[in-house]
Amino acid sequence: MERYGDPQVTARLKKQLKLPLVVAPMFLVSGQDLVVASSSSGVIGSIPALNARTTEILDQWIGKIVARLREKTAAAPFAVNLIVHASNARLDADLDLMVKHRVPVVISSVGSPDRVIEKIHGYGGLVLSDAATVRHARRAASVGVDGLVLLSAGAGGNTGWLNPLSFVAEVRDFFDGPIALAGGLSSGRQIAAAEMMGADFVLMGTTFIATLESEADQSYREMLIESGADDVVTTDKLSGIPANILRASLERSGFTVSGDHKGFSVKREAELMKLWRDIWSAGHGVGGVTRVAGVSDEVERLMRERATALQGNAALGKAYPMNIASSR
Ligand SMILES: Cc1cc2nc3c(=O)[nH]c(=O)nc-3n(C[C@H](O)[C@H](O)[C@H](O)COP(=O)(O)O)c2cc1C
Repeated sequence: MERYGDPQVTARLKKQLKLPLVVAPMFLVSGQDLVVASSSSGVIGSIPALNARTTEILDQWIGKIVARLREKTAAAPFAVNLIVHASNARLDADLDLMVKHRVPVVISSVGSPDRVIEKIHGYGGLVLSDAATVRHARRAASVGVDGLVLLSAGAGGNTGWLNPLSFVAEVRDFFDGPIALAGGLSSGRQIAAAEMMGADFVLMGTTFIATLESEADQSYREMLIESGADDVVTTDKLSGIPANILRASLERSGFTVSGDHKGFSVKREAELMKLWRDIWSAGHGVGGVTRVAGVSDEVERLMRERATALQGNAALGKAYPMNIASSR
């Protein structure tokens, strides 16, 4: 089987980070402050290009992010998320901005990254491609992306559906570059678990919606704190592709959610699109969101939890071989 990807890229990226974490790009939630706070806390901060209404506004935002991060010592790289689907009329203009500002990492989503790779590599930037299927991951790897974001079941926003254990295992079989696992992760223990599964990094969205630096409404933050995994419903009625949504935000907007996890009354389906600002997304990891805190405090929590979990893993490693030996 053909292999793709370069482990040196993973090693270089890890050296620039305090924790193997990307704070996910989130529509209407990520702004300059979230990017700057994340990268200054030693993890990769990111923003979707389309959060800026125009390419000109994006130009100003990236200029400010670069200037603010330049003042920090040892800031981690930041990323911009480009929708590479043919329907994105701004792609070429936004791509030129990546080149202008030498954006260190570009996360491509919804489509094939072919169109962006050459330009980003031209100035030494990295391209990480989102993938929700093994086929898409292999295709992105074969056209030369540097890394993959594996969107698994339980993710906030447009979710994947594959089991993360199976997804990482199958992709690791042909990809030696950086793999970031996304979907339902909200603790340092889960970061350690993702690393044990073969991922190099994790990407977390929902956890960082509730931070002080996000652009989210205070009531969105409160709803996250009150919700658990059972309060998330999966529907394709919002965007045509499956997305994870907080049940309470649908009910508050007058929709009746039927069944445990899926579906809600379609009577007012036409109105859904108008309500996207009031209908809020979260991944299955929402139960791990228990407070409103600054990004640096959340990063520290995750670092502590990961370190504790890794110590626990070392103990597990000692326990089981002894059991095997004694049972022989
Ligand atoms: C409110 C919200 C908005 C999102 N918007 C985008 C987006 O614009 N582009 C994108 O590639 N992913 C988007 N995502 C998905 C995230 O980048 C990421 O894959 C996801 O949050 C990971 O799952 P988690 O929320 O369970 O941690 C969004 C997620 C959320 C929760």
